[in-house]
Amino acid sequence: MANNYRIGTKVIHAGQPAEPTSGAVILPISLSTTFLQPSPNVLPGGYDYSRSGNPTRKALEECLAAAENAKYALTFASGLATLTTIINSLQSGDEVISVDDVYGGTRRYMSRVAANFGMKFSFVDMSNLDQLAAAFTEKTKLVWLETPTNPLLKVADIKLVADFVHSKNAILVVDNTFMSPYFQNPLDLGADIVMHSITKYINGHSDVVMGCLATNDEALYAKLKFLQNSIGAVPSPFDCFLAIRGIKTLHVRMREHEKNAFAVCKFLESHPKVDRVIYPGLPSHPQHEICKRQMKGYGGMVVFFCKGGLDESKKILENLKVFALAESLGGVESLVELPSLMTHASVPLEERIKLGITDTLIRLSVGIEDVNDLIADLSQALDKI
Ligand SMILES: Cc1ncc(COP(=O)(O)O)c(C=O)c1O
Repeated sequence: MANNYRIGTKVIHAGQPAEPTSGAVILPISLSTTFLQPSPNVLPGGYDYSRSGNPTRKALEECLAAAENAKYALTFASGLATLTTIINSLQSGDEVISVDDVYGGTRRYMSRVAANFGMKFSFVDMSNLDQLAAAFTEKTKLVWLETPTNPLLKVADIKLVADFVHSKNAILVVDNTFMSPYFQNPLDLGADIVMHSITKYINGHSDVVMGCLATNDEALYAKLKFLQNSIGAVPSPFDCFLAIRGIKTLHVRMREHEKNAFAVCKFLESHPKVDRVIYPGLPSHPQHEICKRQMKGYGGMVVFFCKGGLDESKKILENLKVFALAESLGGVESLVELPSLMTHASVPLEERIKLGITDTLIRLSVGIEDVNDLIADLSQALDKI
């Protein structure tokens, strides 16, 4: 299944043969925490205890590996639990370079938790290779890239960064949450590990918090699987079932997200109360040429700056009716948020200013509702300022 089919087939079938005893086409949820051993340490199904391995989780992991063209995948209790497990593969004294405009929770874990255990983290703009090169030391072991970034949708050339990171004997992790495996496959471009917050597009229905990673490197997989079991931040079988159900429509949802996002951009770009629109699919995006090269589509995340200040952006957010004012992204329903006061409030003010995360920056997760209703909603809210 990993290589022979296209993604729309893989997300529906990979890892999910019919259940052998009943013939059920849809995988049962395996809730048992423990598994019968006919003799000590003889494991007929390969399972002993559900933290170490679980049939529902295994099905999801096989499906995710197939979707990312990977040999191996592992799932975790959240996107941040995935990050935690990856960072735990390093040692005290090791250094990590992360993209500067990284998800606020990723930066918080790196600089306020892992940094307390003797690791060093620096944050650079990876659309500029010179900045990455300048930050490297002989202790740099891992580079963390998010592309497009959250919230500014900055894009870095994954292949270029991977080649550079490998020339320095470090590994590259790409957070592919915003694109999903449908629009971007970082392992094919040279990344060593791809990770996702499954909470977003992969599950797609805003009812599961979960994360995953995928890799083709057997030694890395073995190390991370050991850590998955040792740290124990694993997802529940019930959530794995929901994510399996969600990923089956990934390809259909992503196409609709993108179609609606383009229409929303067109509306916003021509609106007099909008200063600037950022979307990787627009020729005005600073790295549009890289986007065309390394992505198969542009996704559903749109960012715009309204005219005015905090009062104006608040008024827009308070008046939207179809777009729900809420954190998170990637669900079928449209969401809107103000990163400076919500998802990125944990980023220090001076850093937010440096990055351009202002009070007029509004982030949209464009859902798959009827696009005419989405545009009418934005129009009436913008009319209020
Ligand atoms: C790009 C990105 N990576 C990682 C995460 C963390 O994932 P989770 O919330 O599932 O822990 C998020 C959450 O918003 C995110 O947007």
